[in-house]
Amino acid sequence: MSASMENDWKHWRLRREDTGLAWLDLDKADASANVLSSEVMSEFARVLDALDAAPPKALVIASAKPAGFIAGADIEEFSRLDSVLAARMLVERGWLLFNRLAAVPYPTLALIRGHCMGGGLELALACRYRIVVDEPGTKLALPEVMLGIVPGWGGMLRLPALIGPAAALDLMLTGKSVDAKKAKRLGLADDCVPARVMESAARIVALGGKPARKLPVQERATRWAMNGPLRKMVADKARAQAARKVSRANYPAPFAIVDIWEKYGGNALDVPASDPSSLDTIFTSPTARNLVRVFHLQERLKAFGKDSEFAPRHVHVVGAGVMGGDIAAVCALRGMTVTLQDQSVERIAPAIARAAKLFERRHKGDARQVRFTLDRLIPDPQGQGVARADLIIEAIFENLEVKRSLFADLEARARPDAVLATNTSSLRLEDIATALKDPSRLVGIHFFNPVPMLPLVEVVQGEATDAEVLRRATGFVRRIDKLPLPVKSAPGFLVNAVLGPYMLEALRCVEEGVAPETVDAALVAFGMPMGPVELVDTVGLDIAVAAGRALAGEGAEPPARLLKLVAEGKLGRKSGEGYYRWVEGKALKGAGEGRAPGGLLARLLKGVPGRQGPAASPPIPPGLAERVLAPLLAATQRCVEQGVVADADLADAGVIFGAGFAPHTGGPLHHAGSLVRYT
Ligand code: NAI
Repeated sequence: MSASMENDWKHWRLRREDTGLAWLDLDKADASANVLSSEVMSEFARVLDALDAAPPKALVIASAKPAGFIAGADIEEFSRLDSVLAARMLVERGWLLFNRLAAVPYPTLALIRGHCMGGGLELALACRYRIVVDEPGTKLALPEVMLGIVPGWGGMLRLPALIGPAAALDLMLTGKSVDAKKAKRLGLADDCVPARVMESAARIVALGGKPARKLPVQERATRWAMNGPLRKMVADKARAQAARKVSRANYPAPFAIVDIWEKYGGNALDVPASDPSSLDTIFTSPTARNLVRVFHLQERLKAFGKDSEFAPRHVHVVGAGVMGGDIAAVCALRGMTVTLQDQSVERIAPAIARAAKLFERRHKGDARQVRFTLDRLIPDPQGQGVARADLIIEAIFENLEVKRSLFADLEARARPDAVLATNTSSLRLEDIATALKDPSRLVGIHFFNPVPMLPLVEVVQGEATDAEVLRRATGFVRRIDKLPLPVKSAPGFLVNAVLGPYMLEALRCVEEGVAPETVDAALVAFGMPMGPVELVDTVGLDIAVAAGRALAGEGAEPPARLLKLVAEGKLGRKSGEGYYRWVEGKALKGAGEGRAPGGLLARLLKGVPGRQGPAASPPIPPGLAERVLAPLLAATQRCVEQGVVADADLADAGVIFGAGFAPHTGGPLHHAGSLVRYT
């Protein structure tokens, strides 16, 4: 390609071809990923000045980073905003700059390979065309809502105009991403091409000046109607969708997005300060600050395991029950070879069937990928995989003697460098470890149920656990894309130790005559993804009794009604009845409430706001939620004091990502601190 360089910019590189086409690459200095910092944005304005002075025939904007197109705005800068005025200025700068890009007289095209998020997608939307590269890493999203803010740099204007408001609001309210093929299908991208032809495809579309894809007349008519006469109907539907998941009081941003699209042409700057959708409201509510805090907490968890190169190729899992089966499936999904052992093939078969369903969902019906993943998950009733595995995870019955003899056998057969891990919830790691010749080899890797949905994994350090073994276990947890939380061996570790007293207090309220529905509604209104009584039913009443005894110590009697239900065989969801009756996996609740949480827990734990109580809940006695939460807050504090987790921030992170604690509060200890500060 004949090209000439111009400028001395730090982050942008402009090349001009003899054809008249200009290529603009973003390569943010001293960073592995492109983010739109103030400096990158102001330099972009200077790039546009240079292009104004000598307009190209067409412009292609791309990234010079292997990490992707643009990861979004600079969250660090955003975290430092200290006034509504500063926030307004940040929104205004991006809004005006991208309007300027959208108005240039020459054709513009964004060539998108890898992540294209938030402000990065808003930049791409301001181009006339978008081409996406068909690779698994290509993902497009407007995830601002997850940080409690709105896509204010033109996303609320241009995405609905481009792909229709229903699809656009769905993307903006959930923050979910779409891959390259879906982007093309939605009309978000004009074309989806393999990497090897991306540059020629970009050249042809940009210079040809014609969209590669034209919408059918009928689709255009529908979009026109939805952007016009049916606007209110679409907005109301989106509002109802948001209200089913969150309350406006706790999460103003999704409602603001709908309002700003419907009433203000997608321009957040036009909303009067007094309006509940204004930037003032959004930036002064604690939610945005707290969700940014949650984002940083998540980054902190992700950083654990960075100091380990350990990337097991072969994992052996013993126990193909609820936990072992799913742990094995998740490892296979991440490309590892997994041998799954149980007492017989019959016991392994249900785990494989469950895994097949998971793979179909995750691979979106791509039969080849499903088959490859299934091929990596090998039933192994004889335990032949033990001798080859890099990592062995035990997930058999919670019985000390059986676990001890299993580990003695595993140690004898495993490779000397293999990591030995237990998924035990309630047994002392030290009691299991002494069955080994070398107790320092044992580490706890404690998953949560359901494994595919819950992001947190506690990595448990026993008294004898070797530091390198701990590092490797942590590294493994990152390799399967979970969030590792280092904890010390102590009853219930962190998450169960705080959930136990919380659930117990909820059951005490029921014991005193408060309806389970009312207790649950109070906590759901607070922002928990599921009420505590429903949680007891979901965990299983027998497990709750055993865990309660283990945590509270012998002599602490569980509530009488709990014992009675267990004696009657009413164990909760799994037996069809507990505190609630269960039909098709859903709790039947009294009139006026009872929307079952469905898959929302998973979504919440990925950082999307949690679910709130339905509007028509029964009256909730004042102070009920606070009463049930108090033992949870105290237990979290205790875990910090006793060194179960290293500090208060990690405790908050664990309780948010492991127990679904209302993210808009920033975590239990942060929440307790703000109560003290503001009352
Ligand atoms: P489960 O009862 O569903 O599965 C246990 C499996 O282990 C059964 O299939 C059984 O046949 C097999 N098994 C027992 N002894 C064996 C042996 N010697 N060799 C091979 N297989 C053997 O149990 P679940 O719920 O999966 O729990 C397993 C472990 O995970 C326990 O330590 C539990 O404390 C822990 N855990 C459980 C959680 C849950 O919510 N169920 C959450 C986190 C940890």
